[in-house]
Amino acid sequence: MKPVKVGICGLGTVGGGTFNVLQRNAEEISRRAGREIEVAQIAMRTPNPLCQITGTPITHDVFAVATNPEIDIVIELIGGYTVARDLVLLAIENGKHVVTANKALIAVHGNEIFAKAREKGVIVAFEAAVAGGIPVIKAIREGLSANRINWVAGIINGTGNFILTEMREKGRTFADVLAEAQALGYAEADPTFDVEGIDAAHKLTILASIAFGIPLQFDKAYTEGITKLTTADVNYAEALGYRIKHLGVARRTAAGIELRVHPTLIPSDRLIANVNGVMNAVMVNGDAAGSTLFYGAGAGMEPTASSVVADLVDVVRAMTSDPENRVPHLAFQPDSLSDHPILPIEACESAYYLRIQAKDHPGVLAQVASILSERGINIESIMQKEVEEHDGLVPMILLTHSVLEQRMNDAITALEALQDVVGSVVRIRVEQLN
Ligand code: HSE
Repeated sequence: MKPVKVGICGLGTVGGGTFNVLQRNAEEISRRAGREIEVAQIAMRTPNPLCQITGTPITHDVFAVATNPEIDIVIELIGGYTVARDLVLLAIENGKHVVTANKALIAVHGNEIFAKAREKGVIVAFEAAVAGGIPVIKAIREGLSANRINWVAGIINGTGNFILTEMREKGRTFADVLAEAQALGYAEADPTFDVEGIDAAHKLTILASIAFGIPLQFDKAYTEGITKLTTADVNYAEALGYRIKHLGVARRTAAGIELRVHPTLIPSDRLIANVNGVMNAVMVNGDAAGSTLFYGAGAGMEPTASSVVADLVDVVRAMTSDPENRVPHLAFQPDSLSDHPILPIEACESAYYLRIQAKDHPGVLAQVASILSERGINIESIMQKEVEEHDGLVPMILLTHSVLEQRMNDAITALEALQDVVGSVVRIRVEQLN
């Protein structure tokens, strides 16, 4: 049988890794796919010193790959929302299957792209868009398809987890670790996407869609980054038996779906609390399987290439099948998507860690307790530290039971208005994940 011809657009970290894995494991891959896979064209701006591309046709124009009549599958690895969107739509228009690692593209333009792909009878595969080398899209879409999924919670940004780990374990500064993550090729072109939770929200949007059978709705995700986390909170959390992780949570409730990314306290004895460095982990809770945990490298050259090539093999295997009988792009049949709404963050429920800086006066604790109790907020534990020498203030750390965010917002406004409370109250959400 003739080889399947693929065009790689972008020869950076993931593109370079994909090219190298395809060359190195060519025989093993074609034994799995049932056909040889030939890289028939590469579109790139600059050569990747880690790739030996001699003999492969090169172009500087990604659109030339999308219109090349020789090419069966376009691999989009250029990133971003604009050129990537045009490239993918053009490739689909030209009847090509597409494999992409672009989470931003899928989260923001996925509904449009999948509709176009259905119209043209082609596949758009995106395993590498979420959690690098972990095959979590396939696991949820196919492996867990018997389940009604209750929630998904994951550490889905390798850069952010790398920063938090190095800060906690080695006391390194935020800026120093971020620079290393950039040098290692983990970070996004714009690293604020990593540290402000935008990249994780892109991935969570995709996970929620395939878990619950809802359209992609990135604009409704709540996003909070890790830039305001302090060593003090990391240490207090530790003393209370928790780790702080940057978590994406998608949970189905009767009222709607919670879709939120934020720093989160997790009990230290949970497996996911011990996922460190650039590693990612995604927990999925389904009514039949219970909780499952998927772990692996969340970023990097070959881990992400592993997912790109796995998609490629899937596409090659499915190329001869009738489009109506393929696995649906978003796991559920397109005419069976649900309109269960995404909840605003004020309507989400969680437990909270609060840190209040108070003057060392009698009765402050009683006032704090009274504000919380008036709003029906149950305190789970409280820790009051000694007066701090540098400012003469007393840090009070509280853990609460689960409460509606709106009610907690109201309580925090009242706490910050107390005469003896100084500055803002630090609030970090807590998830038990059990
Ligand atoms: N910047 C991303 C991360 C790359 O650090 O997780 C993988 O999607």
